[in-house]
Amino acid sequence: MRIQFGILAAAWALAAAAGAQHQHVFGAAGGAPGDGAAAAASDIRVTWETQPGRLYESARLIKVAENVRPRWLDIGSIMALRRAGVRFMDITDVQDLHSGAPALAGGYESQLPQRLAQKKDVEGAIGRLSEELYGKVLVPFTAFHNRYYDSENGRRSSQWLQEQVEALVAGHNVTVRQFRHKFAQPSVIARIEGASDETVVISAHQDSVNMWLPWFGRASGADDDGSGTVTILEALRGILAQGFAPHRSVEFHWYAGEEGGLLGSQDVARAYRNEARKVVANMHFDMTGFWDRKDKELIGLVADHTDPETRALVARLAAEYTRLQTREFSCGYACSDHASWNTAGFRSAMAFESDQLDGNTNIHTPADSVETLDFTHMLEFSKLAVAFAYEVGYHQP
Ligand code: BES
Ligand code: ZN
Repeated sequence: MRIQFGILAAAWALAAAAGAQHQHVFGAAGGAPGDGAAAAASDIRVTWETQPGRLYESARLIKVAENVRPRWLDIGSIMALRRAGVRFMDITDVQDLHSGAPALAGGYESQLPQRLAQKKDVEGAIGRLSEELYGKVLVPFTAFHNRYYDSENGRRSSQWLQEQVEALVAGHNVTVRQFRHKFAQPSVIARIEGASDETVVISAHQDSVNMWLPWFGRASGADDDGSGTVTILEALRGILAQGFAPHRSVEFHWYAGEEGGLLGSQDVARAYRNEARKVVANMHFDMTGFWDRKDKELIGLVADHTDPETRALVARLAAEYTRLQTREFSCGYACSDHASWNTAGFRSAMAFESDQLDGNTNIHTPADSVETLDFTHMLEFSKLAVAFAYEVGYHQP
């Protein structure tokens, strides 16, 4: 604990120092260690598509850990934090989400299924899954210079993704909409209407970032999180082909601005909580394509900022419907959008490609490319999303 506080204190000091030299905000070449900066140097693009929006024109309220008071930081300090490897949530526009209020008035407590009752349909839908869509979507998706959330690139990549979702659901009873934020990139939401007033949320994040040069640097974002993006897209295709008609409404979310500190998902979770929407559970997929062949192939389940019962259910679904076992591991911080739902007081779980937090060293650089992904591995995660949609979506408490 003491050590952790030491590291955080050092990080704040670092951020403060960087803030003092704000004009060097893009000074990665001046101060950053070799590899990352060198990789970025050949991949810089300064066009109007990479120009930053207005999000960072004023200071942002940054939270680095549960037990550390949030601080107002400018963009120079925020970038210094990122380069120092300090993870953070940007809570500027969702401060009420962090005030500790319970999820919903009226004591709503969601019910998860106690037994698996949809085997026939789950197996039917899984039988329809293939790897074909992964490459078809990922190649153009990762060809955007980056999918930085507060730039034209981020807006366009979102627009493009939305068109893919719309094409995929055409002819089915699914509504697709944008959820707009304060920055350029909207989140995308596809909804299959059920009979009850409860909603199940399956998600991934659509943005990508180059950790040295967020706006201008190349960030292919194939694994992080192009992989999750297509994992749930393929699951959606599979269940629709199987004639999916759930009791609860089921939504697929592709969040904007995860890399900015869970910006998109916090906006969505906050809105759903404030509208008193009954969210049964969130199942999040961030990075599903990369694993080290020296390790055992498995599904990692994030143990912190998630709900134990939902994790247990996902482990059961994996055992029943995939060829992989699950293993729990901790991020040690709010590492992705599952944490936004958790903070808002809803159940959440997060499936991950391995149990190695730093297994894929390519992320946030130009090296996070489609060729490094294992589509066969990703297919197991699509199966998991299918199973979650059916078993939780069809469950009638
Ligand atoms: N996909 C990563 C998080 C991740 C990396 C989870 C490795 C598990 C293993 C995510 O997109 C990310 O980069 N998150 C940020 C934190 C976020 C709150 C800005 C991070 O980890 O630095
Ligand atoms: Zn990610």
